[in-house]
Amino acid sequence: MIKIGIAGAGAIAGVHIDSYKRFPEHCKITAVCDTFKDKAEAMAAEKGLKARVYGDLAQLLADPGVDAVSICLPPNAHCSAAMDGLGAGKHVLVEKPMAGSLEECDRMIRAAEESGKILGIVSQNRYKTPVDKLKRIVDRSLLGKISYASFDSLWWRAPTYYDLWWRGTWAQESGGCFMSHAVHYLDLMHYLFGMPSGVRATIHNVGHDNSECEDLGFAVFDYPDKKIHFTCSLVCNGERQSITVEGENASASVPWTVYANQSLPNGFPQEDSDGRKALEEAYSSMANLPFEGHDAQLLNFLRAIEGYEAIALDGRAGKKTIELIMGIYKSSVTGGLVSFPLKPEDPFYRKESMVKLMPKFHEKKKSVDNFSASTITLGRDLGR
Ligand SMILES: NC(=O)c1ccc[n+]([C@@H]2O[C@H](COP(=O)([O-])OP(=O)(O)OC[C@H]3O[C@@H](n4cnc5c(N)ncnc54)[C@H](O)[C@@H]3O)[C@@H](O)[C@H]2O)c1
Repeated sequence: MIKIGIAGAGAIAGVHIDSYKRFPEHCKITAVCDTFKDKAEAMAAEKGLKARVYGDLAQLLADPGVDAVSICLPPNAHCSAAMDGLGAGKHVLVEKPMAGSLEECDRMIRAAEESGKILGIVSQNRYKTPVDKLKRIVDRSLLGKISYASFDSLWWRAPTYYDLWWRGTWAQESGGCFMSHAVHYLDLMHYLFGMPSGVRATIHNVGHDNSECEDLGFAVFDYPDKKIHFTCSLVCNGERQSITVEGENASASVPWTVYANQSLPNGFPQEDSDGRKALEEAYSSMANLPFEGHDAQLLNFLRAIEGYEAIALDGRAGKKTIELIMGIYKSSVTGGLVSFPLKPEDPFYRKESMVKLMPKFHEKKKSVDNFSASTITLGRDLGR
């Protein structure tokens, strides 16, 4: 029985607690901590946990009755909390984004290797049935040679979203919508296609005057044989989030849609209904995932601790996503092509030098410790 500690009792902590509670044969939650100890107490009571409650992370990490910790803290705390957790002999699962810099990612990866404990990074959208099926379709080359894909990481957040103290600053949140929202889709991009050779990008702030960082951005990723276009936004009503992959035989999207063309003698398209039907049949014959989202990812974390599975998203996978984001930020500042990987001597490898180079779109003038309501949504459309 794995004994779980929850670090941070804010919005996402409730999702972790609900997921762990679905697997009582694997784990039980024994401790919850938040610098606002009353929040941790209220969370434990609301979720019906018989858990010790701490107001200091160091106390939770010193608790011998905790084997593994879910780090549900603001982004700037991820690296130090993970390092301290691994140093204290705990397995660690870190919410997205893994960390605020590549240098921090490398330290976390080293700490995990030295401790022999498991470091997992949350990116729960890998565990959505339509995404999983699209991955299998791409891996089996069912679309033919892929020339182009587009990712629309479209979200909507009101300006008050940035009133929370850690949001909307390069120092605390480590970035804007690319860091906090597109992080999910950038993970899916390298999960589906591997790492690109380079990126050109621009970032903007068109609707959030309490944030230093971007709320809109565009990137084009270079691969030897394809281009990927990526849009990230916090100003899109309806949050129509999607991935479309264009192959020479057909295109497929999440939410699931498929099109197949064949050529008329003059090069104009006509529908290839057999090709389309074959893909529809391939899709519906694939099994759905038994668990989705955080449930599935946390179960993998538990089974990796038990030694039955490899951790699916480790520190190296998490670092790839941070590398893509840093490439985007570097290109937005330099105005040109940025090649991967970014080396340790690159100013975009370290947080301090990166932050100095980034534009401050606005001064953050308003800051609240907590919102009165803790309800959040986790995006949409990837599950359809
Ligand atoms: N996977 C997802 O879809 C998803 C969704 C939302 C948030 N997140 C991520 O989860 C993390 C937390 O986000 P949130 O929305 O829950 O934030 P939140 O502000 O609601 O919760 C964070 C909590 O951590 C506490 N805290 C801060 N520093 C602490 C410390 N040093 N020790 C103990 N407690 C501390 C705060 O008091 C707060 O209660 C962020 O990294 C965010 O990006 C992920």
